Amino acid sequence: MIRSFQHYGLAVPDPGLGLAFYTDFGLEGRAEGNRAILRCAGRDQDQIVLVEGKKKRFHHVSFGTRADEIGAMQRRIEASGVKLVDPPFVGAPDGLWLRDLDGHLVNIRIAEATPVRTERWDLNTPGHRPRVNARGCPPRGVRVRPRRLGHMILFTPNVEKQTAFYTNVLGMRISDTVEGGIIAFMRCVGDSDHHVLALLKSDRPGFHHASFEVGSVDEIAMGAAAMLDKGYGHGWGLGRHVIGSNFYHYIRDPWNSLVEMFCDIDWIAADQPWEPRAWAPEDSLYMWSVDGPAPESFVTNYEER
Ligand SMILES: [Fe+2]
Repeated sequence: MIRSFQHYGLAVPDPGLGLAFYTDFGLEGRAEGNRAILRCAGRDQDQIVLVEGKKKRFHHVSFGTRADEIGAMQRRIEASGVKLVDPPFVGAPDGLWLRDLDGHLVNIRIAEATPVRTERWDLNTPGHRPRVNARGCPPRGVRVRPRRLGHMILFTPNVEKQTAFYTNVLGMRISDTVEGGIIAFMRCVGDSDHHVLALLKSDRPGFHHASFEVGSVDEIAMGAAAMLDKGYGHGWGLGRHVIGSNFYHYIRDPWNSLVEMFCDIDWIAADQPWEPRAWAPEDSLYMWSVDGPAPESFVTNYEER
């Protein structure tokens, strides 16, 4: 059973350029040979691994499971007809390596989600005043530092089959879908964000975006403004999603993929019922957005062939 999202890997022509971009985004990075590794400040867990490649492509995803579950997972994977493969590079994470139905490398290892920084954002609302005699406006010029990697969306030509693989074989749960097989949102077993992995229909596989949790709407807005000030491309936002409910702002990375800052995503407890819903496409993407409907580019698959 997939129990945590450890990190994701992208192949990019220039990992150094990616290191600079994601450092500006607020992560902390280091070069390791021809790879770049990025983490969230104060969190002892790799979040992005950039490997050198001719073109920008999704490279791999690493999930965590439990020691008492990995054997059964291996048996289910092999029973499904999927063979285990060798780790893709020296120094790659341990555990199982396989390719999903779109050929994406998937790593499953014994690991837990590591703790995140938990500074609170107290928001006064009618009848609820958790912040007393303290100023709410953040200091000017504060540097936004994402707390953790939350989720990722991949393009796929096979939403239904890929979703079945990730749920039936790897043990994720469906949280919500959009009618017409457009997208499926899945979460981990156990208490989980509403979605950790979503699969979005396209004519071919690819990487759509990954998303990092920040502390507040203030931090999304200030973090995005800082990225735009540095000259990086605007993706979409600020807004609030319908599915998952999170506030969002998307920025373009140097290879036209998206990276999102989010906060206030729905949280699903393992021991309480959650009814997945098939949403109508026109009611699925956003509740409000300061820059209007999603641009066509938002759902364009820029993965290089
Ligand atoms: Fe997202």
